[in-house]
Amino acid sequence: MENIIFFFSGTGNSLALAQEIAINLDNTELHNMSGAFEGDLQTYERIGFIFPVYFGGVPPMVRAFIEDLRFDEKMYIFGAITRGGMAGAAQDELLEIVESSGGKLACEFTVMMPGNFIAVYGALPEFIQKNLLAKSDEKAKKITDKIKVKLINQNLKPSRETVPLMKKMPDYTTFAKDYRVNHNCSGCNLCAKICPSKNITMVGHKPHFDSTCQRCMACIQWCPVAAITYKGQIRARYRHPEIKAEELFRK
Ligand SMILES: Cc1cc2nc3c(=O)[nH]c(=O)nc-3n(C[C@H](O)[C@H](O)[C@H](O)COP(=O)(O)O)c2cc1C
Repeated sequence: MENIIFFFSGTGNSLALAQEIAINLDNTELHNMSGAFEGDLQTYERIGFIFPVYFGGVPPMVRAFIEDLRFDEKMYIFGAITRGGMAGAAQDELLEIVESSGGKLACEFTVMMPGNFIAVYGALPEFIQKNLLAKSDEKAKKITDKIKVKLINQNLKPSRETVPLMKKMPDYTTFAKDYRVNHNCSGCNLCAKICPSKNITMVGHKPHFDSTCQRCMACIQWCPVAAITYKGQIRARYRHPEIKAEELFRK
């Protein structure tokens, strides 16, 4: 393959964007950042990172994944960050992470998609979701056109005043203690397979949550019988309509 796109995705938005760009670019491999990468980055013409913004920043797993890679300044690297509202300092953060791994980000984009933070709000009405997804497909085409010609954004540099925002990232280790599992749970194990950080193990056919939760919301959103909630709150679930759970399973 000529190009590679690394993605991280809880409810499929970032994967759908990655797939759309990959199809338009052609000859592009997709790699889920929940699994280790053992290939050789030198063999790719273009290297992309596509993931959601969390709390105005880069999800910790994405940061750790990129920090583990080694780039050189000649590699063509791009980023596309999906968001439900404001991207905050995520773009600045991505620039810095790529730089700290020896690379130079050529260009980066944000794409508005339906919000998925079900611990705070439920799914948007379907007509709004459709509208956002149609617009994001359009944006994917525009992004691809730029990546195809290897656009380099000369103005890309961190705006220093937004970077400290990410330092206030919430504590990820205690979040999962508020997950609840109700009697609908059939022990199907889907939540454990889809969790990107191996935070879920099945104990007595029921999910048990540990302390590496990324808050991606996949376990709640994809549960086929809506058995998992955050603090028992009942809210409309969201999943990208064109993505199947299996496509997000950890490798
Ligand atoms: C823990 C968490 C934090 C989020 N924080 C933000 C945010 O700061 N700004 C924003 O625009 N969207 C935020 N979102 C919304 C997601 O970035 C957005 O819905 C994204 O497209 C989800 O992508 P995915 O389906 O690939 O997981 C947040 C979502 C979650 C789960």
